[in-house]
Amino acid sequence: MRAVILAGGKGTRLKSDRPKVLHPLFEKPLLGHVLDALRESAVDQVCVIVGHGREAVASWLSSACGPALAAGSIRTVVQEPQLGTGHAVMQVQAQLADWATEARDVLILSGDVPLLRAESLAELVSVHQAQHRDLTVLTAQLPDPTGYGRVIEEGSTWRIVEEKDATPAEKSVRTINTGIYCLNWQTVAPLLSRLSNQNAQNEYYLTDVVALAVQAGLRVGIATLADAEEMLGVNSRADLAACHAALNRRTLDRLMTQGVTVVDPVQTMVGPEVQMGADTVILPGCYLVGQITVGKSCVLGPQTTMTGSVTVGDAVHITHSVVRDTRIGDQCRVGPFAQLRDGVELSHHVHIGNFVEVKKTSIDHHTNAAHLAYLGDATLGQDVNIGAGTITANYDPIRDVKSQTRIADGAKIGSNSVLVAPVSVGESASVAAGSVITKDVAPHDLAIARGRQVAITGWVRRVRETTTDPSAGST
Ligand code: UD1
Ligand code: CA
Repeated sequence: MRAVILAGGKGTRLKSDRPKVLHPLFEKPLLGHVLDALRESAVDQVCVIVGHGREAVASWLSSACGPALAAGSIRTVVQEPQLGTGHAVMQVQAQLADWATEARDVLILSGDVPLLRAESLAELVSVHQAQHRDLTVLTAQLPDPTGYGRVIEEGSTWRIVEEKDATPAEKSVRTINTGIYCLNWQTVAPLLSRLSNQNAQNEYYLTDVVALAVQAGLRVGIATLADAEEMLGVNSRADLAACHAALNRRTLDRLMTQGVTVVDPVQTMVGPEVQMGADTVILPGCYLVGQITVGKSCVLGPQTTMTGSVTVGDAVHITHSVVRDTRIGDQCRVGPFAQLRDGVELSHHVHIGNFVEVKKTSIDHHTNAAHLAYLGDATLGQDVNIGAGTITANYDPIRDVKSQTRIADGAKIGSNSVLVAPVSVGESASVAAGSVITKDVAPHDLAIARGRQVAITGWVRRVRETTTDPSAGST
């Protein structure tokens, strides 16, 4: 099985500098969602048609699908200029010699239709193959078909007419073309050369292949999408918002079925890759998007953001916090108002409290940093206590280097201390509050690095007595 993804169009209606298929839906380009659906299907070769903004599309592809590109399971074909969806598919026939001879059943998809499920593609293929068809068009019934191509049946023949070319009678038809097809490349691709651009948009429409195939006596039919929402296409910013809402709702429904409480689905955004265990509760205002796995019986939010790659154990509470690329063990407490980012590892029973930022740091179990701290490029052992206001001074801006701070098991760091990296604090050592630590502290030592307190006896009284009383007035 092979597939073609049409991704060369400009997306004029988005009014954007970014190519349409790179617009993100839950932080992943639309094209990425389509590729995901294909990855779950029995498709072994994908051809992506690129045109408008093709450098950007190609560079995203090489960052996201490098190995598949190298192995040739994803290839790109350039369409220049972009003269319509039919013209796009012609480029495959013209540019990939092996397709002309080897390709059999081919799926055609649009890079701007991101909600399509792999199951629906499988259903399309199975209808197509069971009926021994040359061409199967995936259709849907829409209450409001505005903007989509309509499927027009006239006796035994049928065709697709675009909105811009449709008569008022044709516009009232509610069976629409999803823009997704399964076709026999050997019998259908040769018809592409007969497309014309005599239509409202002066484009070569792929949709016209349907009428040509019917006229040529090929076996042509439709398959119907059970859930019409899957064919939502992104042509405008409003469509993009509609896709976010639909995909969000789909994910929340799945999580709720799996035993997760979503207190307010309207105020909760969860990306499609997120997995969660039963009895976890998502409070309102959460934005959880990325490769995120959360265990059982956690409480997330209110107002918590997680992005990138995040793993959370069981019975973890995270409130009003921002978490990116972090692993959190069982029974940890994070927040309110904490930020964990860029390679943080918390073992179990760790407490990160309010206004604590943790970056690229690993923290062993039963360690607390409860208030107002910055821990960056550090390693903390178990049972460590980080006093309020502790800072790891990890960055030397003159040499532009970051250095490590090591705090061993059982160490206690007094409030308002600065640990100037590289530096280490030994096991069960103590740092006095207000210290600026520039040298390593040996195990079990107390390090004090601050000015000594001095008492000046009777100073206040003396000052008062020698100061003129302001109420006495001056001239
Ligand atoms: C297309 C269908 C319409 C269908 C709708 C479903 C045609 C003529 N019309 O309309 O029947 O209801 O999809 O979403 O096919 N593209 C290229 N090169 C081009 C033009 C477009 O690669 O020269 C790509 C676009 O990037 C996009 C896809 O093809 O990913 C569809 O193009 P678009 O212009 O969005 O077609 P629609 O007007 O939505
Ligand atoms: Ca479209």
